[in-house]
Amino acid sequence: MEIRIEKNPNPAQKPTDESKLGFGRVFTDHMFVMDWYKGKGWEDARIIPFGNLSVHPASTVFHYAVEIFEGLKAYRAADGSIRLFRPIENARRLNNSAIRMAMPTIPEEDIVQAIETLVTIDKDWVPHEDGTSLYIRPFMMGDDEHLGVHGISHARFMIILSPSGAYYPEGMAPVKIMIEDEDVRAVRGGTGFTKCGGNYAASLRAGDRAEEKGFTQVLWLDGVERKYIEEVGAMNIMFKINGKVVTPELNGSILPGITRKSILELLRKNGIEAEERKISIDEVMECAENGSLEEVWGCGTAAVVSPVGWLAFEDKMFCINNGEIGELTQKLYDELTAIQWGKKEDPFGWTYTLVEG
Ligand code: PLP
Ligand code: COI
Repeated sequence: MEIRIEKNPNPAQKPTDESKLGFGRVFTDHMFVMDWYKGKGWEDARIIPFGNLSVHPASTVFHYAVEIFEGLKAYRAADGSIRLFRPIENARRLNNSAIRMAMPTIPEEDIVQAIETLVTIDKDWVPHEDGTSLYIRPFMMGDDEHLGVHGISHARFMIILSPSGAYYPEGMAPVKIMIEDEDVRAVRGGTGFTKCGGNYAASLRAGDRAEEKGFTQVLWLDGVERKYIEEVGAMNIMFKINGKVVTPELNGSILPGITRKSILELLRKNGIEAEERKISIDEVMECAENGSLEEVWGCGTAAVVSPVGWLAFEDKMFCINNGEIGELTQKLYDELTAIQWGKKEDPFGWTYTLVEG
């Protein structure tokens, strides 16, 4: 794919204190944009100065939420080099989301090339401080300029970059999670397995309610029986029960997380049994009560591995591992981040150097 590059003549001041970055608030100097027209395909791949878009008020994205996105990171290693973690998996998932949402797919290698080219141009924005990274946000929007409800004939694919620190303000510390018993996030046959914006919009009310009560995020139950554990707002969830790891199976309504997949591979390589199956809220409560629920953690690109210290359901509150980071949770965080930041050899071939140090 040929990418036209227009350099930003007015580069912004880079953040001086990387410990205060937060998540997704600061953006780099450039963005990737490409247009798709029905009957013509993708065209005009370009990297241009970061800035506001001009979008028609009738655009499909505003009215019918025709939008999908991805999230991955570029990591700065100790020698200054910049590394990527499994971008092909994000490319594949973007296309799976696109198919569900009747949006156009993009050749996987073009998605990866666009990411690599943009990160290379804005390489000086990849932060250096421990635990920081450059969050990469590819997204696609339907952009037909009329109000009929139809499959789209114009899409825009874009990538923006955001130097970021920890997703949760508490960092790698046990979070409080509220199990949602009113709203549901997704149903089978719906869009739960995609990263479409609408899934997140529909989750905000429950998230706000949980935050008001002092919780970090909600844990969703299945949309039909409201009985089986699904996932957290921005992470998949794993339980350690009697020495074994259990995580909800991919059933079409949860996001097939790349961190989830990587952790399952890590666990199995280390000889730790990991089951992907249905797990009911009743089972979790029973295990919490009889002491066999040893650890709980969430996992995702933004949140990495996030220990869960407290789980609330209806009027019950369960404290897990005395509200402390579990041993396996810590080990998984350490091993995964060591591979991502190039502190340790990567036996899986998940990472590669994009820019030499
Ligand atoms: N589940 C949801 C709803 C998410 O938003 C995310 C974050 O992307 C995840 C799970 C974890 O997915 P990944 O590990 O690919 O980031
Ligand atoms: C991610 O982990 O990449 C996410 O997209 C989670 C959230 C910021 C939506």
